[in-house]
Amino acid sequence: RHPGWPAKLGPLRVPAGILAVRPVRLRDAGDWSRVRLRDREHLEMWEPTGIGPWPDRNAFWSWPSQWLALRGLARRGQCLPFTITVDGRFAGQITVGNVIRASLRSAWIGYWVSSDIVRGGVATGAVALVTDHVFDFGGLHRLEATVRPENTPSLRVLGKAGYRQEGLFERYLDVAGGWRDHFCYAITKEETGDGLVSRLVAKGLAERV
Ligand code: ACO
Repeated sequence: RHPGWPAKLGPLRVPAGILAVRPVRLRDAGDWSRVRLRDREHLEMWEPTGIGPWPDRNAFWSWPSQWLALRGLARRGQCLPFTITVDGRFAGQITVGNVIRASLRSAWIGYWVSSDIVRGGVATGAVALVTDHVFDFGGLHRLEATVRPENTPSLRVLGKAGYRQEGLFERYLDVAGGWRDHFCYAITKEETGDGLVSRLVAKGLAERV
């Protein structure tokens, strides 16, 4: 068993509903594929360039191999791949990846939320839950999030959750078919005080249930 994995986080009440986070499952295939095939315009411009057409990469039958790969990485302590749910229904994914231990103890965090429930505090709540979890139970000290400067909603999420902007990584990631600049946002354990969830609750942006 690796520290902090597997885990179920929440629930938390946010404007969109009751938010929870749990490990990805093989049986997420149907929801995962349905939402992603529908949400191509919402997601593709922000995601790493994939091999092959979107409909193939996001077909029902392409989930089992992705799930297996994520589960393998999670078992080796290199990744924490979560499904986000709202009112018990599949609502997106949030992943902590490229976990480095030893004296760095750092990883990246990334997320997406189904287009039919955006602007309801889901991503912000999920980032807060997962950040607190990896600092308290995952043995990590720092998380990094890289975001395209054009991605206003995601910049807003990180700002609300309490991440700091550290700089601009030029031509950093192969996203939507090109090398895209990304702002680097980060947070270390010392900055979180009583936790990011507690801070959201204090600001009235979420409620523990
Ligand atoms: N212009 C300005 N602000 C906007 C816009 C817009 N077009 N759309 C949303 N926002 C604001 C919202 O109003 C809200 O801020 P507020 O609370 O101050 O009003 C904020 O952006 C969104 O906050 P949440 O509701 O917590 O986030 P949400 O659940 O809507 O999810 C997310 C945001 C994940 C970015 C979603 O839009 C999404 O999945 N986008 C496509 C994929 C993506 O970009 N993922 C992030 C990649 S970067 C990374 O993973 C580190």
